[in-house]
Amino acid sequence: MRILVTGATGFVGQHVARRLTGDDVAVLARNPDKARAKFGSTVEVVQGDFRDPRSLEKAFAGVDVLYHIGAARDHWGRPYKWYYDSNVLGTKHILHAAEQAKISKIVYCSTVGVYSFDFQYKPINEAHPYGKHFSFYHGTKKMAEELVMASSLPIITVRPGWIYGPHDDAGGVTQMLMKLSKGRFAFVGKGENRVHPVFIDDVVDGILAAGRSECFGEAFLLLGPEAITFDNYVRAMCDALGVDPPKLRIPYYAALLASYGLEPLWLTKNRFVGKKLLGDKPPMTRDTLYGVTADRVYDTSKGERLLGHKPRVGVRDGLARTVEWLKESGRLEARPAEAVAQSAVQ
Ligand SMILES: NC(=O)c1ccc[n+]([C@@H]2O[C@H](COP(=O)([O-])OP(=O)(O)OC[C@H]3O[C@@H](n4cnc5c(N)ncnc54)[C@H](OP(=O)(O)O)[C@@H]3O)[C@@H](O)[C@H]2O)c1
Repeated sequence: MRILVTGATGFVGQHVARRLTGDDVAVLARNPDKARAKFGSTVEVVQGDFRDPRSLEKAFAGVDVLYHIGAARDHWGRPYKWYYDSNVLGTKHILHAAEQAKISKIVYCSTVGVYSFDFQYKPINEAHPYGKHFSFYHGTKKMAEELVMASSLPIITVRPGWIYGPHDDAGGVTQMLMKLSKGRFAFVGKGENRVHPVFIDDVVDGILAAGRSECFGEAFLLLGPEAITFDNYVRAMCDALGVDPPKLRIPYYAALLASYGLEPLWLTKNRFVGKKLLGDKPPMTRDTLYGVTADRVYDTSKGERLLGHKPRVGVRDGLARTVEWLKESGRLEARPAEAVAQSAVQ
């Protein structure tokens, strides 16, 4: 059976590709050298870009199962077109090429971001309606998911929550851990809201469980075993790092006001002075603020029932493993911007 994984030069896709052993596994990469640097000769690398339908046509020939994991992930300051081309047009091209190649099963990676922050009830389950107010990233992922759900192809959709774990340099938790380790982080808001993180191994387990199923046309939430208040999440990160919790607490409206001011300021700075000075992203953005202050808790019983998937990695265990990776790879000694640069060459 030939399996193709997209997004394997990124965080989630590389973990998925590494776990798919024993079959004929290939990864699709727009930059094959980047994929070869990650995998060596352990998997076959085929060239392909979601924005280029011809490349997909070639890459999909003979494929039985497709794990479409890759996407233009949230990168502050990028224009709408950057997201739209890879996430919306790209998904359209993927579906078309998969139909032409008669692929017999597709696992599509969406996100809980399709609900945005417009929650109508909690815990949120798969039946919750899509949100209305979106960032470019979440908005284009919602449009992509709509294409997928409207398709008659044999697709199983997974919607992971806030993922953390080794090999995620650009991820929010990695960045928070690096800042906390240097004492450069403050609590935001009251911190009583719940977040519901998920460790990468649980996400991969869920994706592979979806790949073993035949739940075509269904969507499944992938979250960790526990929701936790944001304050306690930060405290658990400090414990994992062996540092004291932050002493400073920024009130919500002060942070909101700051993000409204900082975002245009940073765009101007990036344009005229460059991204190196003070980094390419402001210390607070509206989307980050909503992400860390929204009260979010999800119901994962559908996945347990239909996929037999039960998340197992608790927050403290997952954070310990993430910190271990940061230490082993020397990232805790590096500045955040340097660490992100490191990921580009691995
Ligand atoms: N990380 C999270 O917390 C999270 C949460 C929920 C859902 N998700 C979903 O999980 C999936 C994987 O995200 P991630 O965190 O692993 O992101 P990531 O680390 O940024 O990886 C994205 C991957 O997609 C590839 N890609 C992007 N545009 C492409 C294009 N036009 N053609 C070919 N490949 C393209 C990238 O290739 P390059 O290396 O060439 O850029 C990279 O391999 C996404 O669908 C995302 O929406 C992530």
